Amino acid sequence: MGIQITPSILNADFAALGAEVARIPNADWVHVDVMDNHFVPNLTFGPPMVEALSRSTDLPLDAHLMIDDCDSNAMSYAEAGARSVTFHIESTKAPIRLARELRGHGTRASMALKPMTPIEPYAELLPELDMVLVMTVEPGFGGQRFLDLCLPKIRRTRELVERSGGEVWLQVDGGISLDTIGRCAEAGADVFVAGSAVYSAEDPDAMVEALREKAEAAAP
Ligand code: DX5
Ligand code: ZN
Repeated sequence: MGIQITPSILNADFAALGAEVARIPNADWVHVDVMDNHFVPNLTFGPPMVEALSRSTDLPLDAHLMIDDCDSNAMSYAEAGARSVTFHIESTKAPIRLARELRGHGTRASMALKPMTPIEPYAELLPELDMVLVMTVEPGFGGQRFLDLCLPKIRRTRELVERSGGEVWLQVDGGISLDTIGRCAEAGADVFVAGSAVYSAEDPDAMVEALREKAEAAAP
């Protein structure tokens, strides 16, 4: 599939989300950060917002659920039109069942890991997944500093993905900028979320392309 750039709208203007998404026509996906003020100390969108967004753009939506009890709550984001749904493993009791439910609906199933959650216990789960998200900040807010300590986990995840057949995308999220994207691509990431880097740029779509170029140049 190659390198993909998925801007996060967390740092966009919430009063004009349709117009904000229209500013990034070259993005591969739109990353929607769902926060419930329990799993993380911040509150954002629910399924009706995802449904409205999916009607307002042709770009596919990548829902990143930072919520409690993904087992009960994740499917409503698939039903709202998200083409990829990422559940945090820290708030999912039955990830095999959930991944199968998502895929059964025709939605890409993705598992996220907080910075201190290891990938190794989940190696056997990889064939059930379409993507793994390695968080490179503590989830909850945009605009945080990239955590270099996550780079070895990106490398180990890439190794496990290759061993399992290489079909699983490897996403990174948090502090991704022109400065940090090359390090992540070099370590094996291929899907890049960028929030503040894209939406604080004067021309967000030009930033999407600049990020893509940097990642492509650094990819192994
Ligand atoms: C953080 C969110 C991120 C956030 C990234 O919890 O999951 O998607 O929007 O924002 P930046 O790119 O500014 O770190
Ligand atoms: Zn996110």
